Amino acid sequence: MSLPFNIAIDGHSSCGKSTIAKSIASKYGMRYIDTGAMYRAITLYCMRQGIIKNKVVDLQKLIISLDDIKINFNFNLSTNQSETCLNRENVEQLIRGFEVSDNVSIVAQIQIVREKLIILQQEIGKQGNVVMDGRDIGSKVFPDAKLKFFVTAKAKVRAKRRYDEMITNGEDVTLEEVLTNLNKRDEQDTNRKHNPLIKSEGAIVLDNSELSLSQQNQFINQIIKTKLSE
Ligand code: DC
Repeated sequence: MSLPFNIAIDGHSSCGKSTIAKSIASKYGMRYIDTGAMYRAITLYCMRQGIIKNKVVDLQKLIISLDDIKINFNFNLSTNQSETCLNRENVEQLIRGFEVSDNVSIVAQIQIVREKLIILQQEIGKQGNVVMDGRDIGSKVFPDAKLKFFVTAKAKVRAKRRYDEMITNGEDVTLEEVLTNLNKRDEQDTNRKHNPLIKSEGAIVLDNSELSLSQQNQFINQIIKTKLSE
């Protein structure tokens, strides 16, 4: 089964947007697009080319290079996972590292970067049957999407989930550090000049602070059913 409309999912960092998007994609046979991965891939490119140094972006260099940055997703049939490719190189693991995470919100603030990626995201959306997550999907990428979610959870709950994940991955962090980083990213995402994170018109708010995964899935599937019957 596929759905006759695209789904836009926006929300704060570490609130489980990708878990929701992947679960919808798998249940309804839709294509999942992680737009954060696109901003991360451009950030990796900028780091490698010396376009960003000590948190400062060389805008002239970026303007010249922008057309050379090609981003696409490959579906790996053996792992059943989508992989982010930067100029044909699989960078899925590299873009999740600390250095990229530390620089990405600076690159994501730049208007020409956002314009390039929004065009690409809208092209992908034209193929239909897409579930896309990010910060501006409901407001800028698919403003007319028939179904939009705005996902959030209390900062302390999100920090604890992220902290548990990082500890499982063997990273050496404290819960306080994770909470501080999360608050900083929330601040940057919601207060930036271009396309800040907002609840777009018509978006359904899902606060999953107190919800189990199965309660969350139940909520979402009920809404999809209702939309389908409209
Ligand atoms: O979802 P994420 O943490 O992988 O996103 C990485 C960064 O990119 C984060 O700083 C927010 C930004 N982003 C954005 O500005 N717009 C999007 N559509 C997706 C992500």
